[in-house]
Amino acid sequence: MKRRYDFTNRDIVSIRGFTREEIDYILEVSHSMEPLAERGSDMLRGKVLAELFFEPSTRTMLSFQTAMYKLGGNVIGFAEPGVSSVWKGESLADTVRVVENYSDVIVLRHPLEGAARLAAEYAKVPVINAGSGAEEHPTQALLDLYTILKHKGRIDGLSIILMGDLRYGRTVHSLAYALSLYDVDLHLVSPDLLKMRREVIEDIKDRIKVTEHTDLMEILPDADVLYVTRIQKERFPDLGEYEKVRGSYVIDLNVLKKAKDDLIVLHPLPRVDEIAVEVDSTSFAKYFEQTKNGVVVRMALLALVLGAIK
Ligand code: NCD
Repeated sequence: MKRRYDFTNRDIVSIRGFTREEIDYILEVSHSMEPLAERGSDMLRGKVLAELFFEPSTRTMLSFQTAMYKLGGNVIGFAEPGVSSVWKGESLADTVRVVENYSDVIVLRHPLEGAARLAAEYAKVPVINAGSGAEEHPTQALLDLYTILKHKGRIDGLSIILMGDLRYGRTVHSLAYALSLYDVDLHLVSPDLLKMRREVIEDIKDRIKVTEHTDLMEILPDADVLYVTRIQKERFPDLGEYEKVRGSYVIDLNVLKKAKDDLIVLHPLPRVDEIAVEVDSTSFAKYFEQTKNGVVVRMALLALVLGAIK
C-alpha cells in the first residue's frame, strides 16, 4: 500500500467527505479483505455493530452483518422501527444516544435526507450512512467502484453511463460524486422527469466531463460501464408522475447488441423490470457480483473506523 490513512472513529456520512487518495486506500484495504472473507478473522472480536434500519433493506443490512461476523464481531439492531421505541415517538437523536451505549459503531438507514448527518452529530461512536432518503448511499458507491476496478483494472479513462432514476436514486448521487474524483467521461441517461439533481451536476461538472441524454443508444456503443437503477417509486410525491415514467427503459439482449463486448452492466439492486432476466447469464452482468463485493468493502470500512487497521 502506498499511503495509509487513519479512519479511526470517522463517520461515513457522505462520499464527499473523501479525497481520491482516501477512496483508493479504502479500495486497497477492501481487496486485502478478500482472504479474510473466505476464512474469517478475529480482528473485531468484542466489538458490536448496531444496525438501525428505518427503511427496508436486504443487501446493505445483511452484508454489513456478514462483514462484522467475518471479522469476529457481533451485531445488534432493528430492521423494523415498529419494534423499537421509535414507534413510541422517540427522536432519532435520542435513539442514537441510547444505542451508542450498546455499540462501537452505528450503521443507519433512514428515509430522511440529513438523518445520517444528524445521527453522526449526536453519536460518540462512528456512524455509517447506509442510505439517507434520496440523498446518498456512500458505502454502495465504494462497492460500485470496487467492482469497476476489479473488472477494468482502473477507473481513469473509462466511459461510464448512469441510467434510470437519477433524481430519487441515492446510489447514483454518491457514485457521481465519487467518480468525479477520477478522470472519467460520465453520461447521465434518464427520462426528463428523472434527471440528475442540478446540485450534483453543478458540483461535479468542473472536475469531469458530464453529458445528459434521454436516448441511451447515443452513447452505449462507446461505454465501458452501464450502471442501471430502479425507479424509486416510494420516493415520488405524486404516483401519477411515477406512472408516466414506469417501464420507460429496459436493458435486454437486443439493446446490448450495440454495446462493446467487454461492457459491464451494474445495478445496486433490487431490480424491478429495468434489466431483463435474459441478461443475467451473459458476461455483461456483474450486478450479483456487486452484492458479494459489498462484503469485503464493508469489512474494510468497519475495520478502519474501529481502528483495527491504521
Ligand atoms: C439501493 C438503495 O437502497 O438505495 N439498494 C441498495 O442498497 N443496494 C437501491 C434501490 O433501492 O433501488
